[in-house]
Amino acid sequence: MSDKAIINLEGKSYELPVITGTENEKAVDISKLRAQSSYVTFDEGYKNTGATTSGITFLDGEKGILRYRGYNIEDLAEKASFTEVMYLLLNGELPTTDQLGTFENNLTQHTLVHENLVKVFEVFPTGSHPMGQLMTMMASLSSFYPDSLNPNKSPEATNLTIIRLLAKMPTLAAMIQKKGKGHPVLYPQNKYDYVTNFLYMTFGNVTEEYHADPVVVDAMNKLLILHADHEQNCSTSTVRMVGSSHANLYASIGAGIAALWGPRHGGANQEVLEMLEYIRDKDNGDVKKVVAEAKDKKRLLFGFGHRVYKNFDPRANILKKACDNILAKLGVNDPLLAIAKELEQAALSDPYFIERKLYPNVDFYSGIIYKALGFPTPMFTVLFALGRLPGWISQWKELRENNEDIGRPRQIYTGPVQRPFPDMKGRK
Ligand code: CMC
Repeated sequence: MSDKAIINLEGKSYELPVITGTENEKAVDISKLRAQSSYVTFDEGYKNTGATTSGITFLDGEKGILRYRGYNIEDLAEKASFTEVMYLLLNGELPTTDQLGTFENNLTQHTLVHENLVKVFEVFPTGSHPMGQLMTMMASLSSFYPDSLNPNKSPEATNLTIIRLLAKMPTLAAMIQKKGKGHPVLYPQNKYDYVTNFLYMTFGNVTEEYHADPVVVDAMNKLLILHADHEQNCSTSTVRMVGSSHANLYASIGAGIAALWGPRHGGANQEVLEMLEYIRDKDNGDVKKVVAEAKDKKRLLFGFGHRVYKNFDPRANILKKACDNILAKLGVNDPLLAIAKELEQAALSDPYFIERKLYPNVDFYSGIIYKALGFPTPMFTVLFALGRLPGWISQWKELRENNEDIGRPRQIYTGPVQRPFPDMKGRK
């Protein structure tokens, strides 16, 4: 007999179906409750609300498990390339050699952006934030592909848009960094793989030959894989919400970039590094004082806490280990790493953080690695977006393939009840 939930409201009893996921997660299906009883459910911040079924990413926050399409994040970060993971997220299975070759070749064919798009960069004032630029570029891309504005056209047209977006994102991200420095942009080179091409366009120079450092390529692959998807987080839910109105892919991803920019979400990676620098420069490295101020709610410890992980963030564990390794291989001795470790220790042994289950999240160590690789701090969230792009697209694709309903939450109205319209003289 299948489970049912019984809810009693005003003397009447309602039976609600229970649905069970493949990992035995159970949910009470309340979709018919309002029609039957006139009640809606209330859950500010969707802390306990499943807005969709999804076959892409599984996350168990209590056990610290993260899997893409059934594969553990630890295995993917260790053994796969970012393009393999992109393929996996989009198609549900790991690619064969031939499939990966075709996929990577398709990506290589679409890396250039229209020259007029490059001119858009001219209008940004010096110092404008890379995430604002990325949002603009994503929206602007749609103008160059009017054929792809209808997401219902055909699966082939959608696939072409997906490939275009994945292929052009590294080009745009690299241009943002180059333009920010006032350097000439570098055009993509078909001889490089996806990640190396991005690094070449970002760190190469028109005046000399580029030699990719395998340590850097490997670190970048790992970072991008760790960020590639994270089920229904703020930006992904935004992408799905916008996509549910049948908005085109560029608009949906642009909205996801906007959501990611916030300091409580992807923007935290920039905040973490600035916080560590502040501790070093303004707090004289006094970590105890910083922890005390966080406990007094005078400041937030960026890179700590997570809505879903209440034990540890597996991505942070991988990055902590990788951080030591990458810095050693690059010969970088960054005092910020010592401050970060001290802060982690101080927080993890403090009852405030223990009781609230506040652990370092993925953003805590990523910034130190990005810095060691040579990225300027304001670029960090763009790198998160570059990694998250295949996840956003896969989630958007799943929503469209399942023909999901338009997203439209309810509310509990708490404003004034009906009142007469006063003329101007009667107003206070
Ligand atoms: N520093 C100090 N106190 C904290 C922190 C923090 N980073 N995070 C949560 N708390 C406290 C919070 O004040 C609250 O205390 P109390 O019970 O006394 O009111 C308690 O812990 C629960 O916090 P919450 O805000 O209800 O938790 P949430 O699940 O709504 O928020 C979060 C999760 C990630 C938004 C939050 O922990 C936070 O703002 N962290 C800092 C920003 C950050 O690092 N974000 C990156 C998240 S991981 C990357 C990504 O996917 O975006």
